[in-house]
Amino acid sequence: MAAALPGPRRCQGSGAGAGVVGERESACGSLDGMTSAGDPDLAISVRGLRKSYQGKPAVDGIDLQVSHGEVFSLLGPNGAGKTTTVEILEGFRRRDGGEVSVLGADPRHADSEWRARIGIVLQSTGEFEELSVAEVVRHFATYYPRADDPDAVVERVGLSEKRGARAKTLSGGQRRRLDVALSIIGRPELLFLDEPTTGFDPQARRDFWDLVSGLTAGGTTILLTTHYLHEAEALADRVAVINHGRIIDVGAPATLGGRDKEPAAVRWHCDDGPQEIRADNPTQVVTELAARHDGDIPGLTVTRPTLEDVYLAMIGDGAAAGVTGDEEEA
Ligand SMILES: Nc1ncnc2c1ncn2[C@@H]1O[C@H](COP(=O)(O)OP(=O)(O)OP(=O)(O)O)[C@@H](O)[C@H]1O
Ligand SMILES: [Mg+2]
Repeated sequence: MAAALPGPRRCQGSGAGAGVVGERESACGSLDGMTSAGDPDLAISVRGLRKSYQGKPAVDGIDLQVSHGEVFSLLGPNGAGKTTTVEILEGFRRRDGGEVSVLGADPRHADSEWRARIGIVLQSTGEFEELSVAEVVRHFATYYPRADDPDAVVERVGLSEKRGARAKTLSGGQRRRLDVALSIIGRPELLFLDEPTTGFDPQARRDFWDLVSGLTAGGTTILLTTHYLHEAEALADRVAVINHGRIIDVGAPATLGGRDKEPAAVRWHCDDGPQEIRADNPTQVVTELAARHDGDIPGLTVTRPTLEDVYLAMIGDGAAAGVTGDEEEA
């Protein structure tokens, strides 16, 4: 059966392949695995990364540092350059400039041993249509020196009931779960997740968050892209906001853009209708209102700017400008 199965499609033959679920570039690099921006304390180190398509910059001088064990999220509108960045770090795309070190190696020249240490969920996949869930996961397990138990992984991603189903019969969200299973079957040190929960129902997304929490508790480093800001808030230690191929800001979700220092909005209802006060010290406002209302303040809410508020303010109306009609290029 295994002979008919598609394996990782880069650097095969060594016994330790990449946990990839698709392919973007054909060349395997040399095996020197040396880094140009290496820092052993960092899982990922990027300086001045650049990539253009047909002369138009998609990544325009990005610097990134991700520590071991960190969950780092790239946020940004469609076309901002997230997937291009991530796929360069995965060794799937060539860069035009800059220095990149991932787990101590330049992905451009990384070997199969390095590939076995990373896991990947690409933004889009579409293979293994005729194979069952269990077959695909079991097959991928053979490519890793310290693979997890395939049945356990299928269960962890919530596909036990579908283990005998052919991939082509899975729903969109179930298909994505299979992608996640393939990315973690090799027990990666570093996991790249490019919009991993697209198509997940709310419960599946929560389950996925738990799965990620379990991985990080075990020390896995994660680079995540997502358009779900709640997801970034729930999972990421730090986020970077990218637009037009450049990083606008980096910080913890709770403090990004000075969000924690913004005044809170205190809202309540009175006989004249809805009321709102912006306050640096909302506790004081609420205390005074409570005294005035004899303890029970109708419709009381206290909110600070959400991550989405801060993100949208940063991106502004430049979001739409990030969409181009370029022709395809690896
Ligand atoms: N293979 C390619 N050939 C030509 N242009 C490309 C290619 N891949 C990406 N681009 C362009 O590069 C820019 C960045 O694309 P990228 O896929 O990195 O964005 P993204 O931030 O991942 O967007 P999304 O949120 O939609 O996934 C876009 O303008 C896109 O059209
Ligand atoms: Mg993308």
